[in-house]
Amino acid sequence: MNGSILIIDDEPTIRKAFTILLRGEGLTAGEASGGREALALLGREYFDVALLDFAMPDMDGLAVLREIRRLYPELVVIMITGHADVVLVVEAIKLGAYDYLLKPPNPDHLLMTIDRALEKKTLHQEITKLDRSLASSLESQLGRGPVIRQVIEDIRRVAASDFSLIIEGETGTGKTLIASLIHGLSRRADGPFIAIDMGAIPESLLESELFGHEKGAFTGADRKKKGYFELARGGTLLLDELQNLTPHAQGKILQVVEEKSFYPVGGSKPVSADPRIIGATNADLKEAVASGSFRQDLYYRLNEYRISLPPLRQRPDDIPLLAARLLTEAAVELNRNFTGLDEAALELLAGHPWPGNIRELRNVLRRAALLCEGGQLPGKMISQVLDGENKGAMPAAMALPGPTAPISLEEAEKTTIAQALAHTDSNRTHAAAILGITHKTLLAKIKKYGLE
Ligand SMILES: Nc1ncnc2c1ncn2[C@@H]1O[C@H](COP(=O)(O)OP(=O)(O)OP(=O)(O)O)[C@@H](O)[C@H]1O
Ligand SMILES: [Mg+2]
Repeated sequence: MNGSILIIDDEPTIRKAFTILLRGEGLTAGEASGGREALALLGREYFDVALLDFAMPDMDGLAVLREIRRLYPELVVIMITGHADVVLVVEAIKLGAYDYLLKPPNPDHLLMTIDRALEKKTLHQEITKLDRSLASSLESQLGRGPVIRQVIEDIRRVAASDFSLIIEGETGTGKTLIASLIHGLSRRADGPFIAIDMGAIPESLLESELFGHEKGAFTGADRKKKGYFELARGGTLLLDELQNLTPHAQGKILQVVEEKSFYPVGGSKPVSADPRIIGATNADLKEAVASGSFRQDLYYRLNEYRISLPPLRQRPDDIPLLAARLLTEAAVELNRNFTGLDEAALELLAGHPWPGNIRELRNVLRRAALLCEGGQLPGKMISQVLDGENKGAMPAAMALPGPTAPISLEEAEKTTIAQALAHTDSNRTHAAAILGITHKTLLAKIKKYGLE
């Protein structure tokens, strides 16, 4: 066993016997002959568990317990009682004692109780750590610089409401991530969070994708199907890449937002539209409204609140924290151990303009991590990856053969994936890291192109 135990008892023979027993188990033992001495000792030394005698001349056990709970709430207290006084025991448990034992305790029983107490303590510490990290998780995830702090304030404020909102920001600034954080902090957190890429739905399928359809609504509709607005009931619907909405789609969405209901394709009964709507865009929607490509009425409907995410180059203070987080993520993914980034690495990161924002930072760190065995990530690796980026190419060994004739994007993708697999001896995790895509996406593409 591993831990430190404080024995509080006025009888020296008992203290001696306990100390020998505990040390025999590898535990550290400290002794105090009474309540005051114990409290003084606790002020100087750390203990995990206290064995506390009920009846002591200088201060009774319950009074000591009360003081301990007040001053050292993390200390786990096991009461040792000379006689089975139920009232005292109940009182002690109420005050927060962990357990009690009759005097003289059976050694095995005593050790078992201590073992359990230590276990509970570890668990408790982990939960407290978790609690703390949840409380500060927005700051630790997003950053602590002044610009992002304003955004965090906005997130907290708007999460508590059911307002629809627009999140604006350059590509890769974390719009999708922040929409999901807002959902997670809202009263809809237990409901679904669904993100739809508005540019990815063909116009002809838009209505049935958004609103669902009845069986037989059109050729091929052989079953009733729920749309995103129905699937996101009780939750949040993210309309991502809002700038890609066609005028027709804008009209349809405006209608739902205004009427708070919609008709599935082929349906005759309106269905109430429940989800909270968040729109995300990397374009300047105000400008789009001015130029007539985005409907003003829809813009105002969605814009009950607006969050503007700053580009990474405007918040250099946050780069070290984000880099450390992203490196840890990459380390877990690649199963390596990194202790952080060296000075040179941080300097290089601070000086880069990051047109692709956090997504680019993430990809750079994943690639650099791949080139490094572990330990402290050196600036050398970062510059190697950034140089490769500047040339708009992968590391030399990975470059595509100069195409003599233009090939299709699909062909290029297939070739690139095949090369990444060859380069990594078919290690898919490494290949995905080089390609800057998720493991899952890589698997899907391997299947699509028959590269197994
Ligand atoms: N604060 C952050 N900490 C860690 N990773 C982040 C953070 N913000 C964004 N990312 C990561 O960066 C990538 C891009 O983020 P996200 O998809 O949210 O950006 P976006 O603004 O929605 O981009 P796009 O305009 O291309 O849709 C994702 O892989 C995301 O996990
Ligand atoms: Mg996005």
